[in-house]
Amino acid sequence: MHSTLAVLFPLLASFFVAEVRATGSCNATNLCSSTAPCCSEFGFCGDDSFCLGGCQPFASNTLSSCRPRPLCQDATYVFSDNSRILSNATFFDGNTTEYDWVVNNGNIMNTNSSGGELALLLTEGNGGTRISSTRYVHYGTITTRLKTGRWAGVVTAFITMSDVKDEIDWEFPGAATTQGQSNFFWQGVIPDKTAGDTHNVSSDTFANYHDYTIDWQPDALTFSIDGNAVRTVKASDTVQNGIQKYPTTPAQIQLSIWPAGTSQYPPGTVQWAGGMINWLDPDYTSAGHFYALVQSVTVKCTDPSTPSANITGYAYVGNTTGNPTIAFSNASILLNGASTLQGLSLRFPGAVALTSAMLLALSVL
Ligand SMILES: *[C@@H]1O[C@H](CO)[C@@H](O)[C@H](O)[C@H]1NC(C)=O
Ligand SMILES: *[C@@H]1O[C@H](CO)[C@@H](O)[C@H](O)[C@H]1NC(C)=O
Ligand SMILES: *[C@@H]1O[C@H](CO)[C@@H](O)[C@H](O)[C@H]1NC(C)=O
Ligand SMILES: *[C@@H]1O[C@H](CO)[C@@H](O)[C@H](O)[C@H]1NC(C)=O
Ligand SMILES: *[C@@H]1O[C@H](CO)[C@@H](O)[C@H](O)[C@H]1NC(C)=O
Ligand SMILES: *[C@@H]1O[C@H](CO)[C@@H](O)[C@H](O)[C@H]1NC(C)=O
Ligand SMILES: *[C@@H]1O[C@H](CO)[C@@H](O)[C@H](O)[C@H]1NC(C)=O
Ligand SMILES: *[C@@H]1O[C@H](CO)[C@@H](O)[C@H](O)[C@H]1NC(C)=O
Repeated sequence: MHSTLAVLFPLLASFFVAEVRATGSCNATNLCSSTAPCCSEFGFCGDDSFCLGGCQPFASNTLSSCRPRPLCQDATYVFSDNSRILSNATFFDGNTTEYDWVVNNGNIMNTNSSGGELALLLTEGNGGTRISSTRYVHYGTITTRLKTGRWAGVVTAFITMSDVKDEIDWEFPGAATTQGQSNFFWQGVIPDKTAGDTHNVSSDTFANYHDYTIDWQPDALTFSIDGNAVRTVKASDTVQNGIQKYPTTPAQIQLSIWPAGTSQYPPGTVQWAGGMINWLDPDYTSAGHFYALVQSVTVKCTDPSTPSANITGYAYVGNTTGNPTIAFSNASILLNGASTLQGLSLRFPGAVALTSAMLLALSVL
């Protein structure tokens, strides 16, 4: 079912190149200057919000250009209203006391039924919706109670994503409403062809809420459905050529719905997602959108060492062993009252889907 990484790389590379505009771009060999020091998730240099969630440490001006990634905090997030969700991440100033989540792309709605329900919307025009936690997790147990979409080509996802693209996924492609897929990535690549797996869910994932858990610990990663472990990956089993290819860097929690079944994606992605989206589906025409529903997200932090009271978050301090070295930081996580934008717009087509999930999709080719 999976092809080799050698085949996947050129496909992914060309996908990225097509999206990136030349001016102000950054990567690990082309760092941002001191005047626009931070390399955004999408590979553009800037200041302000570019230095917050997704800021790429090894492509920014210095390792400390990005703000510390806000410290993990035990919490249960419910969605009885949207007051703790900032509707546009571009305007986030780093204040985690004010917002638990930011909208990176798309539109949300609140149905406030079943004790509170956040709807992530997909329309033909919005390119999908993604929200990210304002705080990061550096190991922990995260459970999301959600209802997926049920339409061919429409993917629902609950993932963790780090600023160097270590990623852990629960994904729900298209019309397969009896299954969930688990997956993980190391620095943006599938470490091994066995990284992705499919799991049955006890009842329809569109009609019923289920709990999907990512239990991410330094030694092992366990995926659970409704409290039952369905898969465990040991970190020690991911070592290749002396490098452990296992997620080790602080990550945001991201929830999304995205349009994989569109002509903007390669055939393999469309096929993985269950085919092209039917925008004439009665569910779509009656509601005006496709959607996924989230009832709660519970986070239990398990930082490898206990942060003292002066700690604000996580910093990258080196990359000596093949995996970045992470330390606690006491620097401010807030932008300095700046509200004007510098640099380029963050938004371009496909922004939601610029996760390594693309790789899994391509591997179906
Ligand atoms: C990094 O960016 C430079 C300048 O845009 C480009 O020439 C180079 O190919 C990029 N490197 C990678 C690995 O993408
Ligand atoms: C949602 O419902 C709860 C209880 O049913 C209520 O307290 C809350 O005010 C409602 N929120 C909105 C935005 O209507
Ligand atoms: C952060 O948000 C909280 C809650 O809205 C507010 O009380 C506080 O003043 C804000 N902090 C800063 C530095 O803006
Ligand atoms: C957020 O605001 C920026 C700047 O106005 C805009 O370009 C972008 O489209 C907005 N994003 C969303 C998700 O509305
Ligand atoms: C998952 O469900 C399918 C269809 O009912 C069944 O064929 C398959 O054996 C199930 N797999 C597991 C691991 O239970
Ligand atoms: C932050 O850490 C530095 C040294 O690491 C220390 O000098 C400073 O006092 C600390 N500041 C706070 C607010 O804890
Ligand atoms: C970190 O180290 C690994 C292994 O040596 C290397 O592949 C990777 O490019 C390094 N990352 C950075 C950003 O230097
Ligand atoms: C935090 O405060 C403790 C004392 O309470 C101090 O020993 C430690 O160096 C501080 N750490 C940082 C990173 O500021």
